Amino acid sequence: MNKNIIDEIKRLKTEKNAVILAHYYQTPEIQDIADYTGDSLALSIAARDTDADIIVFCGVHFMAETAKIISPHKMVLLPELTAGCPMADMIDGDDVRSYKAANPGAKVMCYVNSTADVKAESDVCVTSTNAMKIAENYKGQKMLYVPDQNLGEYLNEQVEGLELDLWPGHCCIHNNLKVDETVAMQEKYPNAKLIVHPECNPKVVKMAEYVGSTKGLLNYVIESDHDEFIIGTEEGILHQVNNLTEGKTFHLLSERLVCRNMKKTNLEKLHYVLDTLENQIEIEQDTLTRAQKAINLMLELS
Ligand code: 13P
Ligand code: SF4
Repeated sequence: MNKNIIDEIKRLKTEKNAVILAHYYQTPEIQDIADYTGDSLALSIAARDTDADIIVFCGVHFMAETAKIISPHKMVLLPELTAGCPMADMIDGDDVRSYKAANPGAKVMCYVNSTADVKAESDVCVTSTNAMKIAENYKGQKMLYVPDQNLGEYLNEQVEGLELDLWPGHCCIHNNLKVDETVAMQEKYPNAKLIVHPECNPKVVKMAEYVGSTKGLLNYVIESDHDEFIIGTEEGILHQVNNLTEGKTFHLLSERLVCRNMKKTNLEKLHYVLDTLENQIEIEQDTLTRAQKAINLMLELS
């Protein structure tokens, strides 16, 4: 059954000149069928650089929207339209407009995990891979960072002279990690290095030996001489770390590290959108043009 559907997806992909992009949090079968697997920055760049006419984005809604903003003339399909990011929905364009009205002249930096409407109100966009580098340009300025409070707090700590105002949003999955369960894992696996995503609860971030985006975590385990790790990010990353390393052992920090929205994509839905071209992402032109400025500046500063 899987073989048939995989063959059919490949046939439709070639026939329609489509490319399949998949985030590291997707299921192994989706990661394996994708042309590019990556973190949110790498997938934005792949969306920009592809020659394909159709981008099928296996991820959540804001990611497909970002691909559409970057490549407005391409058709962008999201296999499951209800695959959202609760953190991205913790702020809307009106919230940003209210902040700007109350703080004339202040700038806004948005995490890529945000809606097109929020990006349109922002000066610059960042992902967890490039946030630190981009934030260096905004030291000492009045600036709001939305919506991930944990990453914002991490940036304020790491970049001297940075004083971002923080919006109280968070990723329910990463933020829900607890210090006591982290300590228990460290006691269970005393030789393992603790490495985590900056969306995690700040108390857990402070305990980690390395903090980085999904791509950062992946590079870290590949390059490290160490051979055992406790990983604090969504479980989909395990497929990549196991595939790309040999003789290394990985423990997921918590079995609750599962993003249900990321797991809504499956081979049947991927096949369906390629076949029918349904679930196209559309963005109102003015919003798209303004959101493009924040994303283009991110790509320039990365
Ligand atoms: P990165 O892929 O940029 O590490 O972000 C993780 C994430 O939260 C995706 O939703
Ligand atoms: Fe959103 Fe968290 Fe899922 Fe990423 S892992 S898509 S931030 S809910």
